[in-house]
Formats: sequence, structure tokens, C-alpha cells
Amino acid sequence: MLQIKNLYKSYETSKTRYPVLKGISFHVEPGEFVAVMGSSGSGKSTLLNCISCYIPYEKGNILLGEQDLGELDKEGLAKVRNEKLGFVFQDFMLLDGLSVKENILIPRIIRENADKEALDYADKLMELFGIIHIKDKYPADISGGERQRCAVARSLINDPLLILADEPTGNLDSKSSRAVIEAFEKAKEEMNSTILMVTHDSFSASFCDRVILLKDGVIYKQLNRIGSQNSFQGYLLDAIKEMSEV
Ligand SMILES: Nc1ncnc2c1ncn2[C@@H]1O[C@H](COP(=O)(O)OP(=O)(O)OP(=O)(O)O)[C@@H](O)[C@H]1O
Ligand SMILES: [Mg+2]
Repeated sequence: MLQIKNLYKSYETSKTRYPVLKGISFHVEPGEFVAVMGSSGSGKSTLLNCISCYIPYEKGNILLGEQDLGELDKEGLAKVRNEKLGFVFQDFMLLDGLSVKENILIPRIIRENADKEALDYADKLMELFGIIHIKDKYPADISGGERQRCAVARSLINDPLLILADEPTGNLDSKSSRAVIEAFEKAKEEMNSTILMVTHDSFSASFCDRVILLKDGVIYKQLNRIGSQNSFQGYLLDAIKEMSEV
């Protein structure tokens, strides 16, 4: 589904170029829910922004399905962003002047196919994520957890190949975070969605199938979920502690 091969990315500031991603390789299988963790500044958002086609990278390949994203022109990248990727951000990025249902339909409106099938699909997603009762409300009048479940529904409305989420629970309390993670789990179970999520939160990450730990621009370790969610969280916390000590 997603293959990252030997990805290099550096930033240039006042004539100094410093590397942020130093040869990252990994893959995400269809239907997998994968988390990326690492300390602040380790390059997590940079990695997600490269996959999102928001920023250029110097070396390496990013393959989404069969498509090498590096080979696309501006128009092709815009098409991939709209049709093949779904996005969930820390600060929700909903449009204040649109209702919950209208926000969910934005990617279909952009594609000019907000037809009956899209409206029914939006209803199905809102049912699934427990936000159908607030479908006509506006973002200012609903909770953070409800806003983020609306954003998850929006990310799914085009049936994307991959959902990219950068700190989706970063602004939420633990109860709302759980509801958002549950929405991802349902997307995985019901729609076979593939999700790559950056998070600082070991609780959220402990629901994933696999966790990639980034340190100083390289992959320090990948951990497959084993045992219960609770024991996986313990296992993750130990690995993060170990990573900070080496
Ligand atoms: N546009 C930019 N120009 C220059 N340097 C940048 C730019 N964006 C990020 N950086 C630097 O690259 C490094 C990695 O940043 P990135 O945002 O990917 O980290 P992160 O792991 O997402 O951190 P956080 O957990 O705080 O969100 C940091 O040192 C950051 O200061
Ligand atoms: Mg970040």
C-alpha cells in the first residue's frame, strides 16, 4: 500500500543544511493501523508531509499503491491528495461556516460528485462514529472529540488508499482520544482502511498494529502489537524509555 524507500530530507536555514530524515525505509500493508512515535523534532511531521506531497524530498521513493509520488507533476499530486489520501490534523481543520455533514462532504464537493451515494455514505460514517445526532450542528457548537470524529469521517468520504493523521488526539482528553481511536479502529474493521498516525501518546499508539519509533531521523525500532492493548502500552513505554537513554 505504502512503501517508503531510503527517504532523505533536509532543511536549509541561513546557509546551513541539516538533515531531518536520514534514509527512512518502511512499508504499510493494506488494512494496517500504524503509529509513528519519537521525541519532538525527530522528523515525524516532516515524514508525514513528504508522504502528503506537501514538501519535496531530496532522495528516496514514496510509493502509494503502484504510483511513485516523486514522478507526479503538480496536477497529479493534487489529484492524489484529493482522491487517494485522507487527512486528519491535530487542530481538526473544519470549516466553521459549514455543518458537520457539509464538512464531511467537502472532498466530494471538490470532486464535484457530492451525489446521493456520497450523502448516504456520509450518513453511514456519522452513524458509525456516533455523531449522526449532531449532523446539522456547526463546529463551534460541538466538542473537540466530536470535531475530530467529523474530521475522521471527512478523511474517509473519498475511500482513500491511505489516511494520514498528525497528532489526531493531541488536543483531546483521554476519553475523547479513545473515541477518535475507536473511529479509526472501526474504519479499519468496516472499510479496511489503512492508517498512518503520528502520535506522542502511548495510549493511542497502543491500539495500533505496529509502532515505528523515530530517533534523530532514522528508524530506531518497529514494534508489532502483541498481547493486550494494556500490555502493548507497557511494552511501548519501555521501548521509548530505552530509546531516550541510548
Ligand atoms: N520548514 C522548516 N524549515 C526548517 N526547519 C524545519 C522546518 N520544518 C521542520 N523543521 C525542523 O526539522 C526538525 C523536525 O521537525 P518535525 O516538525 O518533523 O518534528 P516532529 O517530530 O513532528 O516534532 P513534534 O513532535 O514537535 O511535532 C525540527 O528540528 C524542526 O525544527
Ligand atoms: Mg510534528
